[in-house]
Amino acid sequence: MSDSSYWNSPLIIAGKPYPRFISGPLDGITDSPFRRLVREFSKDELLYTEMRHVACIATPRAHVKALDYLQLERPLNFQIAANQLPYIAPAIERILASGVDMVDLNVGCPASNVIGSGSGSALMADLPRLESIVRTLRSLLSIPFTVKIRAGFKCKNAIEVARMLEACGVDALAIHPRLQSQRFEGQPDYELAAQVKQAVSIPVIISGGIVNFKMASMVYNTTGVDGFLIGRGMWSKPWKLAELAAHCQGQPFSLPITTVVEYAIKHFNLMLEYYGPRGLFAFRKHLPFYLRGIPEATTLRKKLVIETSAQEILQALHSLCEK
Ligand SMILES: Cc1cc2nc3c(=O)[nH]c(=O)nc-3n(C[C@H](O)[C@H](O)[C@H](O)COP(=O)(O)O)c2cc1C
Repeated sequence: MSDSSYWNSPLIIAGKPYPRFISGPLDGITDSPFRRLVREFSKDELLYTEMRHVACIATPRAHVKALDYLQLERPLNFQIAANQLPYIAPAIERILASGVDMVDLNVGCPASNVIGSGSGSALMADLPRLESIVRTLRSLLSIPFTVKIRAGFKCKNAIEVARMLEACGVDALAIHPRLQSQRFEGQPDYELAAQVKQAVSIPVIISGGIVNFKMASMVYNTTGVDGFLIGRGMWSKPWKLAELAAHCQGQPFSLPITTVVEYAIKHFNLMLEYYGPRGLFAFRKHLPFYLRGIPEATTLRKKLVIETSAQEILQALHSLCEK
């Protein structure tokens, strides 16, 4: 396939077409308020939720904020973590009732509390357990089912894992080609991703280091993957997928600084509305990124990340816009 026909053709998962760029899961970042903003720029792209453990979703009385999303956020891939079978069926029942389009199993999280319980990337080192979880999920899921893996836990076994997932009937897989010990740092092993792509027939999506179209093209040429999961490249940039889509068409994309600040204000208001007062603290993860590169905001940024009054933050952002 020539490069331009590749970029202008869809990624097909379980017979349905999606744009090749996808908003990946970032815990604490790609929540419902953020996804609503992404939808202002990108209507058809697949968005992942953050990871939620099945045990937190399974109990009927548990109020799972992650299940509070708007229909406009769809198509939505709901990501779960699981380490044992009992919670899976009740959790899946609630997830399906919420109307998501896909379910993704996280087999990549490196965090010690997650691997300590035998979920996330720990499953890369426990293939019998992984297989039984995947087979159970497949039998319960009438909608597409994807899995996000790593290069491996301590050793690189992604090819073996990918083949097993395909044999279990998984519809697509995403690979973040780093070992658990590398967490989110160091060069992703794109060669390994290329080998995984060669080893299976289901779509393979790459995660790791894709922040712009130039990088995506380079990684496509190395790996031949079918899609791109954008992680940190999305952070406080709800327009990122639209920017990548424009570049696929050879079109330029830029936003005036005032629009960027206006989106910071919108984002902050959505977080206050969704989380209540704790939205202010949650927004501190985003604020410096929105203001990065704005010369007038250098001192303001330092002041606003410790500010405890929502009114003060909003006022400061509004006056920055007026400047
Ligand atoms: C703050 C943060 C939170 C993350 N949360 C998740 C998560 O909930 N589920 C998941 O599969 N990966 C998660 N990841 C991993 C990313 O989805 C992605 O695989 C990784 O950051 C590499 O891609 P990138 O270089 O585009 O960021 C997270 C990464 C970061 C930095």
